[in-house]
Amino acid sequence: MSSSKRQLKIGYSIWPTGHHRTAWRLPEAVNTGTADPDFFAETILTAERGLFDYFFIGNSVKSDPESSRASGNEVFKIEGYTLGGYAAAITRKIGIVVTINVTYSDPYNTARAMASLDHLSRGRAGLNVVTGISGSNASGNFSRETHPDTADKYAWADEFLDVFNALVGSWEDDWLVDDRRNGVFLDPSKGHRINHTGRFFKIAGPLNVPRPPQGRIPIIHAGTSEQSFELGAKYADIRFSPYRSCEWNRAYYDNIKGRLATYGRNRDDQFILPGFTFFVGETTREAREKYRQVQNFTLNEYAPRAVSDFLGIHVGNVRDSDKVLDVIDLEKLRQDAVAARERAGGSIESQGASQAIERFTGNKLWALELALDAFGDPEAVTFRDLHNYVANFPGNQAPVVGCGKDVANWIEERFENREFDGVKVFPPYSRRPLEAFVDLVVPELQRRGIFRTEYATSTLLGHLGLGGVKRQKVAA
Ligand SMILES: Cc1cc2nc3c(=O)[nH]c(=O)nc-3n(C[C@H](O)[C@H](O)[C@H](O)COP(=O)(O)O)c2cc1C
Repeated sequence: MSSSKRQLKIGYSIWPTGHHRTAWRLPEAVNTGTADPDFFAETILTAERGLFDYFFIGNSVKSDPESSRASGNEVFKIEGYTLGGYAAAITRKIGIVVTINVTYSDPYNTARAMASLDHLSRGRAGLNVVTGISGSNASGNFSRETHPDTADKYAWADEFLDVFNALVGSWEDDWLVDDRRNGVFLDPSKGHRINHTGRFFKIAGPLNVPRPPQGRIPIIHAGTSEQSFELGAKYADIRFSPYRSCEWNRAYYDNIKGRLATYGRNRDDQFILPGFTFFVGETTREAREKYRQVQNFTLNEYAPRAVSDFLGIHVGNVRDSDKVLDVIDLEKLRQDAVAARERAGGSIESQGASQAIERFTGNKLWALELALDAFGDPEAVTFRDLHNYVANFPGNQAPVVGCGKDVANWIEERFENREFDGVKVFPPYSRRPLEAFVDLVVPELQRRGIFRTEYATSTLLGHLGLGGVKRQKVAA
């Protein structure tokens, strides 16, 4: 790498029908990728061509056929270790991150699978640890009545990761003796029992897979609770976050980084990567047209109540063709937010300022601002646009719409402002947007010296600049 500038980390999240709720309805969308090896191969190789740090396989351990109206990705989710192994075989450099819901997993099996994947990919495996959302029907697939509460599931996750790390590191690297004359294959003293006994697990070890090439498995984590923030501060190399606004993400960034010291870690030991979705075209106009086209696929008819309920802003008796800014007094809402922040004193600085402002003012000003921004010309946005925006709201972030330069500007500005350390790319549909990101946005980021022009290493820890750090519990 020629540049000494701080470098963006970029992941690619595979969702076969894309991240946007309705963009799969475009004529050019490819919707046959759910379980198609060719589709997976092509998209993984495109991400590797784009020099991404990693290919991210999300997970779900439930299936809800009725939810197919909400998103084509909800019903099916191909199994992560299997796809990870397939990805390892057809790529050479890109990291491969598998998501595991640890609440419904066993540490020995997980350590075994991840160490195996790290060997087969020659040091490119990462584990995304999630704990599951209460109210989802996953527990019904695992002989459980309910999903554990937050305190219990994170206590389990903490002990799980402690044991996982110990198992992954339970063999020293020089176990092979290969003494054919004396018949000694390996040195048993190089394998260490972990003899763990805790609240949830009693595990002897060692693992029956040698220590993986990376020495440890990089951990990714996402969650919204205080317990999630602490678990991540203790174990995670990457935190996957939402993107809300400059202010929200600056506060979030400082909050998360500020927790690392408690665990003897530096601010640079963990990266924060929000999900990032976009509509990118050769020109800004082309991107905006595409964005408008997919917004209009929304099935619901205009409903002022949906807008009011979502934003917490009462709009009264308006028509779908009315312009939002003719009705909503944006300046007044902004003043209310400032007043709310002052009333709340310092307490909202630490965690997600706009969430706290939302609690005080009862409205989602941040979402309204994102919506006005996404359409490009705030004055022209109608209530119909806003309703479609609300109906398609993806949860983690709103799309950035524009040409390659516009999208790169958006990323660069926020990266330099330390709102995040990189992005996890969620293409809105398959397959053109991922290719467009690689062809139109990546060269712009490279030109600015904030993204690699070739892979300098071939392990995930190496790509992240975290190579060689070993944090396992030392076994007896
Ligand atoms: C930005 C973000 C992305 C997430 N992605 C996934 C995912 O791919 N798979 C999954 O099972 N859960 C995912 N989750 C859920 C969390 O990992 C976690 O299980 C959930 O938020 C419950 O934890 P909490 O109580 O700390 O919020 C995600 C959460 C957030 C905030």
